[in-house]
Amino acid sequence: MSEVDRKKPFVYYGSVLKKFSFAGAFLACLFFLTLVLSIVGCQKKQSSSKKLYNPQYSAEEFDRIARTVFKNIYPYLALQIKEEFLITEGSCLDVGSGPGHLAIELAKITNLHIYALDIDPEAVRLAQKNVEEARLADRLKAVQGDVERMPFSDNSMDLVVSRGSYLFWKDKVKAFQEINRILKPGGTAFIGGGMGNLIPPAERAVIRERMDKEKIGPPKELEVSFEEMGVILRKAGIPNFKVTTDAGCLCGLWVEFKKRKGS
Ligand SMILES: C[S@@+](CC[C@H](N)C(=O)[O-])C[C@H]1O[C@@H](n2cnc3c(N)ncnc32)[C@H](O)[C@@H]1O
Repeated sequence: MSEVDRKKPFVYYGSVLKKFSFAGAFLACLFFLTLVLSIVGCQKKQSSSKKLYNPQYSAEEFDRIARTVFKNIYPYLALQIKEEFLITEGSCLDVGSGPGHLAIELAKITNLHIYALDIDPEAVRLAQKNVEEARLADRLKAVQGDVERMPFSDNSMDLVVSRGSYLFWKDKVKAFQEINRILKPGGTAFIGGGMGNLIPPAERAVIRERMDKEKIGPPKELEVSFEEMGVILRKAGIPNFKVTTDAGCLCGLWVEFKKRKGS
């Protein structure tokens, strides 16, 4: 075998290797490209669903916050609603309920039949799961819907509550008109955001600290002033209302009104 002949297979083998390494590199590139594109796609999908309902969190992330940082807010707020409005029977709606923690605490201390409504199907799924875990499914149901077009008939609710959702409502005038539409004459709405009045100051401070540390809270640009809220409510045809903050601090904003009898 000549020098050249002996080298032939080696050369050939080498070219197969070259072909393999070229094909391998090409496939690896293709794999990484697909991986990168799918990660970017997933993030885009997630952030666009976050943007649609809540610019900061997915329903799952919010459920984690509600179970940890905000855990103590809901029982105190539910107690405040029960003690202030004395509506413990009949129908109630929690608008923008997220994973349903306020509705669940309210159901535990009243005989109300409650709907927990949220625009985000994932929040509705989590709320229904939480309701079932709390064994309250006979009086509490999670429903998907937009506050601007709610699947409830006129004059059907004795009480409408909402915490931490109104800032995200696109057309707030329409939303308050809808809330007023579904309230029974004489029924009460309590809509806002914050921790309520009954949470002890020390607990409020701990929550505040964790919120600051973990950067939890609505973006500043969504905030609504007292004056702006007044304009919204008057435009919605609600002339008599009360707007307050949480007791003892200039934080939170709560709107309270009753639907006029005969309207
Ligand atoms: C910050 S979370 C508050 C959840 C819950 N109320 C709580 O305090 O734990 C705001 C919720 O409002 C819901 N939301 C935003 N816009 C809505 C709309 N137009 N109609 C119904 N729900 C809405 C979001 O999907 C989200 O679950």
